[in-house]
Amino acid sequence: MHHFLDPADCSLDTLLALLDRAQRFKSHPADWPRFQNASLATLFWEPSTRTRLSFERAAQRLCMPVVNLDVSHSSETKGESLEDTVRTLAAMGIDILVVRHREAGVPAALARVVPAHTHLINAGDGTHAHPSQAMLDFMTICEEKPVFSALKIAIVGNIRHSRVAHSFMQAASILGVGELVLVAPHVWQPTSPVCGRVTDSLMDGLQDADVVIALRVQRERLQAHEHLHLEAYRRDYAITEAHLRAAKSDVIVLHPGPVNRGVEIDDEVADGPRSRILTQVSNGVFMRMAIIDALLSH
Ligand code: CP
Repeated sequence: MHHFLDPADCSLDTLLALLDRAQRFKSHPADWPRFQNASLATLFWEPSTRTRLSFERAAQRLCMPVVNLDVSHSSETKGESLEDTVRTLAAMGIDILVVRHREAGVPAALARVVPAHTHLINAGDGTHAHPSQAMLDFMTICEEKPVFSALKIAIVGNIRHSRVAHSFMQAASILGVGELVLVAPHVWQPTSPVCGRVTDSLMDGLQDADVVIALRVQRERLQAHEHLHLEAYRRDYAITEAHLRAAKSDVIVLHPGPVNRGVEIDDEVADGPRSRILTQVSNGVFMRMAIIDALLSH
């Protein structure tokens, strides 16, 4: 693996190796490698709390120097192209560039112009992909429910615009999830899902589910005709204690964050015993350590 752009580029062996490595980093801190001669830069053209800091924490744990390009004050404001920006960082000897951009395809396009010694990680591009999120989600599921082929997983929300859902579907297809149900009102349903069956019925999705993934209502990505009345959405699709009664008794609930409390998920669930939201955050650092390790050990 030279770049990490999309789970669709990865083999089953690659994804399983990442899950295994991340779990090993979690349980054996003494085995953490030290990459003090390598370096990582974060370039985020969209806001982030979790992903950017999680990559920074991962690199710090691997003893790598980290720099963050503040894109609002970079030479892009003077007309520099993104291609010249990443080539400039590569020329400074940065080994890994972690890129988030509002447009789908930008990280892949930048990966084509960086020199051979530079690795690029997609930290989220538009509605297209968020591969490290998918892998930390699967790590969190795997810790408690490791036989993916036996699971029913429901993803609920704005699937059409969700790069989290798109990467999860790609990974679910490779990892062989038993049943994936994509629950959304009609305007938010995916047009051509690579994996899973689509329904507008929350109960269809939640019935006997082992894992439920609630998605953020991404108001910033919606066109005028795609806006829904939030009270109606909450009534029909929010992950609440009452709705979760349909799921298995040991169901776990995930959410990639940031959470719109009281819209797609209730406080009671987000802060309750079934929630794995903060476990996802903790696991995210270990998964990103595994991704960095896989790129540098290539
Ligand atoms: N899950 C996620 O991508 O969160 P951030 O936008 O805070 O990075």
